[in-house]
Amino acid sequence: MTKTVSIAYHSGYGHTAKVAEAVAEGAKAVAGTTVTVIKVDGITDADWSKLDASDAIIFGAPTYMGGPSAQFKTFADATSKRWFTLAWKDKIAAGFTNSGSYSGDRLASLQQLSILAMQHGMIWVGQTESAPQLAGTDVPKIEDINRVGSFSGLMTQSNSKSGPDIAPPSGDLETARRFGKRIAEITNRFSKA
Ligand SMILES: Cc1cc2nc3c(=O)[nH]c(=O)nc-3n(C[C@H](O)[C@H](O)[C@H](O)COP(=O)(O)O)c2cc1C
Repeated sequence: MTKTVSIAYHSGYGHTAKVAEAVAEGAKAVAGTTVTVIKVDGITDADWSKLDASDAIIFGAPTYMGGPSAQFKTFADATSKRWFTLAWKDKIAAGFTNSGSYSGDRLASLQQLSILAMQHGMIWVGQTESAPQLAGTDVPKIEDINRVGSFSGLMTQSNSKSGPDIAPPSGDLETARRFGKRIAEITNRFSKA
């Protein structure tokens, strides 16, 4: 039976959008998976219906001022309508954030996304790619997988003066593909029939 993985994200300047595309590519690579990509600013009634019908929702937001962007938070607050009836209970959930700095306090963003998921009774899935630092790499390279070493979700980093044509770098986008694949695989294993 086909499983549906939706990616609900905001991107102000295109970097997080690149990550969302890569996550979608990875999820699509898993047989029997339908992928829906939804921009949460300008979300429509049809988009909400797609989210309601999804087996998994992957939340994505840039880190702005140490948390998910205001546009994403507006969407998160609007999901409260679903919270009242636990409409998203037992869906698989995951999340990603993109920031300008290597830290940039973006863990706070991922924590917000995971708290959102758990308020809804969703099942949060983290990152399992080993960080290059664990292999003894002194300075992570732009092609490294899980370059920034995040495990509670997917983190990518885009230099502020680099446009979305070159940032985030290739390794971060490949990490995003692998993350999307993992979430789709988990969804196929654990989601409701
Ligand atoms: C209003 C605003 C606030 C930001 N705050 C942070 C921050 O707290 N930490 C950080 O590392 N980068 C911060 N940035 C940089 C963005 O995270 C970075 O440019 C990111 O690539 C933007 O993603 P987007 O193109 O999807 O909007 C901020 C950018 C903006 C516009």
